[in-house]
Amino acid sequence: MKKILITGANGQIGSELAENLGEQIGMKNIVGLDLRPALPPYKHAHEIVDVTQKEAIRHIIEKYEIDTIFHLASLLSAVGEKNPDQAWTVNMGGLKNVLDLARGTKIKVFWPSSIAVFGPNSPKQNTPQNTILDPNTMYGITKRAGELLCQYYFDKFDVDVRSVRYPGIISYKTEPGGGTTDYAVEIFYEAIKNRVYTCFVGPETRLPMMYMDDAVRSAIEIMQADREAVKLRTSYNLTAVSFSVAEMAAEIQKHMPEFKCNYKPDFRQEIANSWPQDIDDSSAREHWSWRHKYDLGSITQDMLAKLEKKIHG
Ligand code: SER
Repeated sequence: MKKILITGANGQIGSELAENLGEQIGMKNIVGLDLRPALPPYKHAHEIVDVTQKEAIRHIIEKYEIDTIFHLASLLSAVGEKNPDQAWTVNMGGLKNVLDLARGTKIKVFWPSSIAVFGPNSPKQNTPQNTILDPNTMYGITKRAGELLCQYYFDKFDVDVRSVRYPGIISYKTEPGGGTTDYAVEIFYEAIKNRVYTCFVGPETRLPMMYMDDAVRSAIEIMQADREAVKLRTSYNLTAVSFSVAEMAAEIQKHMPEFKCNYKPDFRQEIANSWPQDIDDSSAREHWSWRHKYDLGSITQDMLAKLEKKIHG
């Protein structure tokens, strides 16, 4: 990892990954790529490119002599349900372009899959690595197909591509863009600003979640792992904690007793219901020593402190 390209560099994960990797290997070795202009206060090179444009990506890879790609650009689940055609085009087209460009080179690729690969008939508790995968969102379908594409490119073309199935990611720097798990971030913003949040899924909704520090570290660690240690070339189950919205609200109330959470479920409830409540990530823990650090208590404490500062100075 000497010269790194991050697609979706303006996104929730991309913006923090760029910052973290830049601190480790120098900002001059990081290139962000996004449809939109760079988000201040970025300090790395930034290119405005659509990931469906293969030759434009090729040009960037050559220009900067890229050896590692974190391919994060993607439409998330809720936005994807509103634009299924675009979700297919961007999610599948972008991934295939990156894998094609890595073929025949030494370029290593990280690509995130998601808990959205599971569906209504997947087991909901302690969901195994290998089980029924019947996603019923376009996002989940692109993630499942993408996992198989990664395995195919590894087996047939020796592309060193590595992947994890991210749970919902909680962070305070960049807001998530159109996922079902966005409520787990919105709740903190609304708690700080208004002391009340109206959640778009019900109180008993329980999903696997992870703090951004853990999410960024997992991406870097799987990329730094020995090639032989990465035994699964579809995507690894990965998790930190699971909690219901009601449990999350109660945790916030420990710091802010006046906080109130109301519930008005919309179409995202059905998506959440089709996903696991908690997943078994023992393969990641055994193969490349994955360990999470943040639980609900430490996530809540850090989010409230950081957002208080961000919003009220
Ligand atoms: N956070 C994503 C979403 O909600 C799941 O991978 O769409």
